[in-house]
Amino acid sequence: MTSYDDIELVVEGREPAAADVLLLTLRHPLGADLPAWEPGAHVDLLLGPGLERQYSLCSDPADRSAWRIAVLREPDGRGGSAHVHRRMREGDKVRAREPRNRFPLEPARRYRFVAGGIGITPILPMLAAADAAGADWTLLYGGRTRATMAFTGELARYGERVTLAPEDETGLLDLPPVLDGLPPGTLVYCCGPGPLLDAVEERCPPGLLRTERFRPKEQGSGTGGAFEVVLARSGRTLSVPPDMSVLDAVRGAGVEVLYSCTEGTCGTCETDVLEGEPDHRDSLLTEEERACGETMLICVSRCRGRRLVLDL
Ligand code: FES
Repeated sequence: MTSYDDIELVVEGREPAAADVLLLTLRHPLGADLPAWEPGAHVDLLLGPGLERQYSLCSDPADRSAWRIAVLREPDGRGGSAHVHRRMREGDKVRAREPRNRFPLEPARRYRFVAGGIGITPILPMLAAADAAGADWTLLYGGRTRATMAFTGELARYGERVTLAPEDETGLLDLPPVLDGLPPGTLVYCCGPGPLLDAVEERCPPGLLRTERFRPKEQGSGTGGAFEVVLARSGRTLSVPPDMSVLDAVRGAGVEVLYSCTEGTCGTCETDVLEGEPDHRDSLLTEEERACGETMLICVSRCRGRRLVLDL
């Protein structure tokens, strides 16, 4: 789907991390160091033709000898998790792109982490980093039942900083004690299902929240009208009809661009905007990034006016 370099990995370990969650350990086939990454990063696994999925790295970034990912089986998914659960075995090869990070852990004195289900994966290395930095932090971690919650054993070492909240025991996550009256210097990191992210977004004071969505956020209906896109590097002008994405228009014109999820969650297609006002429809950019309008995710976002000039 894209042209940039990828690397070959071998599945060295495959074990259950919780009900319906498979933990894979991936290494370089020759034992070489893997590319560096930081907490919050994900890798794109190239599982097969048209089957490319993003998984958060949940190992220790200092350990360059292996990566660890946890994959939730999603019966109603689009086939990526089923492929991993059914087909991938120890010794199998899989290609991956270098880690990218759209959910970085910014320095702060205090963190409030909130994770739901498999959303614990990017948070796990963040906890270790926050702990090593001597930050004041807590984690509220929910799941359907205790058996579905991965890494509860590893989290036990953090003692009272971690609150486990299986829904069948304690109900929905109790957000007010975590999010109300946050002292200055606090950042909130949240990853999990859409309704949890929506609830945290609603409650959290503006500017303090950092999120990552695995699924696209519900957007308003309608695709908007047609507009023009000027590709600044070649000077070409393309028409984007209402039923076509900017990405498809650009690719249709034979211009090579990077993309992966095509649903506005991964950030691969992020493109600099030189003129015009994007109509942001992604689930990734922060409010500040949207407001400044310097970039857009061209797989889903459109144009508020009649013309965009892109750095392509
Ligand atoms: S391709 Fe993933 S955000 Fe556009």
